[in-house]
Amino acid sequence: MSQTQLSRTPGTRTGPVKLDANENPWPPPPGVRRSIARAMAGATLHRYPSERATELRAALASYTGVPADRIVVGNGSDELISLALWALGPARRLGRAAEAVVVSPPTFQAYETVAEQLGLPVVRVPLGKDLLPDWPALAEAWAPSEAGSYRVMVLCRPNNPTGTVAPLEALEAFARRRPAGAPLLVDEAYAEFLPDNVLGLLSAGAGGPTGVFRTLSKAFGLAGLRVGYFLGTPDLVAALEAVRMPYNVSAPAQAAATVAVRAALDTGYVARNAAALGRERQRLARALRQLGLTAVPSAANFLLLDLGPAAGDVWRGLAERGVLVRRFSVAGLSSFLRVTVGLPAENRAFVQALAATLSGPGHGRAGAGLAGTARAAGEGE
Ligand SMILES: Cc1ncc(COP(=O)(O)O)c(C=O)c1O
Repeated sequence: MSQTQLSRTPGTRTGPVKLDANENPWPPPPGVRRSIARAMAGATLHRYPSERATELRAALASYTGVPADRIVVGNGSDELISLALWALGPARRLGRAAEAVVVSPPTFQAYETVAEQLGLPVVRVPLGKDLLPDWPALAEAWAPSEAGSYRVMVLCRPNNPTGTVAPLEALEAFARRRPAGAPLLVDEAYAEFLPDNVLGLLSAGAGGPTGVFRTLSKAFGLAGLRVGYFLGTPDLVAALEAVRMPYNVSAPAQAAATVAVRAALDTGYVARNAAALGRERQRLARALRQLGLTAVPSAANFLLLDLGPAAGDVWRGLAERGVLVRRFSVAGLSSFLRVTVGLPAENRAFVQALAATLSGPGHGRAGAGLAGTARAAGEGE
């Protein structure tokens, strides 16, 4: 069975334990869900939605402290990543098309996928020590090959799939030292799992065009709603608006997201949810250590494990036992599996299935060495 087929199996009680997409195992609390349902039911369906998602952007402005006219909403942050690279690439919204997109793998694959779809060359600067950005190498890659040209830098904080966090001060210094006019895009899909964020970069002094991607798919627990948002400097907000279709977020999604964002402010449910997932992540990491496996230290709702050459077999063993985790086909990640932090019972099911897989037949050779092949960045989690 392929990963896609398995992932599509409905997550019923008897269905698979789905820990492969960094979703939140907890939906918003019942009171918030009721308000969301009421708001969605009350949405006007025979009219197009608010073209600029005015109420939702106002709620997001209160939530982030960034003015509403610096916010663009999208059908998930996936759409906003596409719009940003399209605006800076073929649509030439900064006057000319970017010469290249610089990424720091292993990272979220969509940046590369979209860039390639748009015909934009990709420059890869692998993560350095402790799976953190290699700032000098990134700075070199960011420099355009000729005057007047520019390259787009895309960073992810916390980074998916490693969970590692670029130190804020270093990132800010890096942004200030950028080549003239070079755009910096930071993906903060997992922002709520961190005590700090990069929004300070958007104020004057950021040093150039800057944008931040956010989503309601992770800490908000609303992946099915498909709502993301972009916070940017005026030049980039105008660039995205120029290529965005007017009704890209449906009326029910706007209504629901507005309620959820207000509830995050009023009830603190998102912060509580993120903190609970952080504690659950630590418990899961401890249970993995008891199996002799050390995860990469993560600040987000997932853990990355290096299982060596047996990773594919381990993935299959887990799938056969009804547990779905993420495996990777991209270069450099084939020995890794990424597990999303689930409900306590789901995490226990994962650990049991992993223990059974590692000690099961066919893992004699790999099993003996698996604990040894689990490499950690830094101290491990
Ligand atoms: C780093 C990162 N950015 C963006 C996304 C896409 O999120 P959305 O559901 O808002 O499209 C994900 C989803 O896994 C992600 O991990």
